[in-house]
Amino acid sequence: MPRGRGSGPFARPQSPPLADIANREGLTRATLVTWLTNAHNYPEVMDFDLDQPQVEEIADYILTLRSEGYKRVPD
Ligand code: HEM
Repeated sequence: MPRGRGSGPFARPQSPPLADIANREGLTRATLVTWLTNAHNYPEVMDFDLDQPQVEEIADYILTLRSEGYKRVPD
């Protein structure tokens, strides 16, 4: 699976890689779950809906991308 900025029909070169998100200062499982549940959940606009177990699975996946000394992809 490609890392970095993604590929395929939905690639957006200006989007940060998920690893950049995972390694942001102050991010915790709780902030990620809250954000995915509340701030990034507009099923009608996005034509996309996450239930709570899916949010938690995605949060756990994103946290696996954390690493010591992670270097952000330059903007
Ligand atoms: C499992 C699915 C998804 C995940 C894990 C995800 C994750 C994220 C993350 C982490 C950001 C924050 C980027 C940042 O802070 O720099 C973001 C932003 C964004 N995402 Fe998603 N996303 C998902 C699905 C979608 C879908 C389906 C859409 C639209 C149809 C969408 C539209 C956007 C937009 C417009 C932003 C930027 C504006 C904002 O922060 O609200 N995402 N997404």
